[in-house]
Amino acid sequence: MNRLNGKVAIVTGASSGIGRATAKLFAAEGAKVIVGARRQAELESLVAEIKAEGGDAAALAGDVRSEEYHKGLVALAVERFGRLDIAFNNAGILGEAGPSTGVSEAGFAEALTVNLTASFLAAKHQIAEMVKHGGGSVIFTSTFVGYSFAFPGVAAYAASKSGLIGLTQALAAEFGPQHVRVNAVLPGAVDTDMYREMNDTPDKQDFITNLHALKRVAAPDELARSVLYFASDDSSFVTGTASLVDGGASITRT
Ligand SMILES: NC(=O)c1ccc[n+]([C@@H]2O[C@H](COP(=O)([O-])OP(=O)(O)OC[C@H]3O[C@@H](n4cnc5c(N)ncnc54)[C@H](OP(=O)(O)O)[C@@H]3O)[C@@H](O)[C@H]2O)c1
Repeated sequence: MNRLNGKVAIVTGASSGIGRATAKLFAAEGAKVIVGARRQAELESLVAEIKAEGGDAAALAGDVRSEEYHKGLVALAVERFGRLDIAFNNAGILGEAGPSTGVSEAGFAEALTVNLTASFLAAKHQIAEMVKHGGGSVIFTSTFVGYSFAFPGVAAYAASKSGLIGLTQALAAEFGPQHVRVNAVLPGAVDTDMYREMNDTPDKQDFITNLHALKRVAAPDELARSVLYFASDDSSFVTGTASLVDGGASITRT
C-alpha cells in the first residue's frame, strides 16, 4: 500500500482489461489517477469505484489518435491534481489481422496510428509536463508478439508494438538526464476483451494457454502489478527496458 502516495498518473485504455486493473491498483497505492479511453460510461463507473474505495480519480473520454486528446489528459491532471508523475500508455488494438498478403494499407496504418503514433504523441505531452516537476515514469504496453514470439496473421500488430520498444529506448536516452524513466511492459496472453475476441473458441484458448510455461493466461491484475513496479520508486534505476511479463511463453517449446 501507498507506493504511489502523492503521485499523479494518467492511464489510457482504462475502460477495460489491463488499463482498468492498473488504474485501480495505482489508486489503491495512493496515486490520483486520470483515466482515458473512448467509452465514457465505463470510465465514469471506474472513477466511481475508485472513489468508493477511498481513492481519487477523474475521467476524460477521447480517442488516442488525437494529439489534442493527449494535451487534454495532461491539462486535466494539472488542473485537478497539480502535476503529472506517471503515465501508462496502454490503449491498443489488434488492427487488421489475417494473411499479410491481404492486409490493406489503411488497416496496417491504423495499427501503427493507434499503437505507436498515439503513444508517441501521449509521451510528448506527458514528458513536457513531468520535467517541470523533476521527472517521472512513462510506461508503454507492448507485447511479446513481434519481440520474442511470432504468430502468422498479425503483421500490423507486431510491427506497431515492436516499434514501441525503439520508442522506449529513444525516449529513455533523451530524457534520462531530466529524470524521466521510460519502460515497456511486454505481456503474454492476458484474459481481457481483446484476448477473448481473438480467441473465441475453447480450442484457440487451449492453444494459447499451452504456449505459456505456466500453462495459463494472466489475469489483468497480474499485469497491473508489473506496471506498478515501473511506476513506483522500486524501479528507480530501471529505464529503457523491454520487460516480458509473459508466463514463460518466450522460453517454451512444449
Ligand atoms: N490481452 C492480451 O493478451 C494482451 C497481450 C499483450 C499486449 N496487450 C496490450 O494490452 C493493451 C490493453 O489491452 P487489453 O488486453 O486490456 O484489451 P482491452 O480490454 O480491449 O483494452 C483496450 C483498451 O484500449 C482502448 N482503446 C482502443 N483504441 C482506442 C482509441 N482509439 N482511443 C482511446 N482508447 C482506445 C480501449 O478503450 P475504448 O474501447 O473505450 O476506447 C480499451 O480501454 C493493448 O495495448 C494490447 O495491445 C494485450
